[in-house]
Amino acid sequence: MKDLLSWDQTLFKDSELFELDHVPEHFLHRDAQMQSLMFSIRPAFSGARPLNCLCSGPPGTGKTTAVTKIIEEIENHTSKVVPVLVNCQVDSTRYAVFSRVFRKLMGYAPPTSGVSFKKIFGEVAKHIAEEEKVLVVVLDDMNYLFYENEVNDVLYSLLRAHEIHPGARVGVIAVLSETGVPHILDRKVESVFLPDEISFPSYTLEETRDILSNRVKLGFYPDVVDSDVLDRIAGYTHSLGDLRVGIDLLKRAGLNAERHARKKISVEDVESAYEKSRLVHLSYVIRSLKKDEKVLLGLVADMQEATSGDLYEKFHSMTNLGYTRFYEMLNKLGAVSLLDADFTGKGSRGRSRIVTLRYGADEVRKRL
Ligand SMILES: Nc1ncnc2c1ncn2[C@@H]1O[C@H](COP(=O)(O)OP(=O)(O)O)[C@@H](O)[C@H]1O
Ligand SMILES: [Mg+2]
Repeated sequence: MKDLLSWDQTLFKDSELFELDHVPEHFLHRDAQMQSLMFSIRPAFSGARPLNCLCSGPPGTGKTTAVTKIIEEIENHTSKVVPVLVNCQVDSTRYAVFSRVFRKLMGYAPPTSGVSFKKIFGEVAKHIAEEEKVLVVVLDDMNYLFYENEVNDVLYSLLRAHEIHPGARVGVIAVLSETGVPHILDRKVESVFLPDEISFPSYTLEETRDILSNRVKLGFYPDVVDSDVLDRIAGYTHSLGDLRVGIDLLKRAGLNAERHARKKISVEDVESAYEKSRLVHLSYVIRSLKKDEKVLLGLVADMQEATSGDLYEKFHSMTNLGYTRFYEMLNKLGAVSLLDADFTGKGSRGRSRIVTLRYGADEVRKRL
């Protein structure tokens, strides 16, 4: 009996650490990115306009964590610099972004009806100029501003606030979840944005293991996770490239072990958790796709083992997009681990590929 848990025992020392919105105390392997961010922000501390930044990398590489920590640092340091975190998935229009900024600056929401964008914008610019504050707007998951075609308006308004209101100092930290397809800004926006680019590459297998090992140490009681179990979890996480998978796996495997009243997580606990945890990645990636990419993914789900030629025909008839775009999207969906495309060596364009989903068609359709 000594290897079994009694009903009121738990393996989790701190279960909060396995929630995906938890901000980790130890942010490992991201020193260079944190330093670059601090460097860009620094001018704001002496009242000047900060350098703009563009943070980009695949999902689950610590981008949101990094900007959240920078915001904390700024807020601990001074009230003269006001950072505003905008989650563009929620606030995806120029109006919504500026309402969010307004709320942070004034401490109350702008009136919900009958107020023009121009009015909100004017109040924001006037406030920071008069109070001599420097505004730092963090646009997290800026991808969503592209989908809504609002990105140029948002950036242009933020970055030219000082022309409307002399003395209004604004910097932008943009965060892009990068998925293979370039996000292109209007030339006139590009020329005022000029960001320092900060890249968040996928973690290596060793880094992944190290980060997860740290989470284990803080979140579980000693000896709950043996090193072969950790290896397995790190391997799965690395193969999907999204740290969320590993954190979710730890949580589910821990709950599985508890359900069986075991004092240790076994490899089987990990195996049975994986089917669910990999869907964390699936949901996350599908949410970040563009409309046409979703159309293509839906087609792959419906057609099962399609050749790329057949896929292209259907895709073209639905979207009117050409082969180059199709091909880019196919590669992108492969790069984010949604599908496999194997070369068969035949086909009218020399190389035709068999395209298959890496997830169950139903799981994919449910999320489209
Ligand atoms: N270097 C790291 N150290 C500790 N935890 C990390 C690290 N990078 C990411 N995480 C964790 O992984 C999850 C996803 O990170 P997040 O910053 O949201 O990624 P992104 O915004 O790039 O998609 C979060 O739960 C976060 O706590
Ligand atoms: Mg994020």
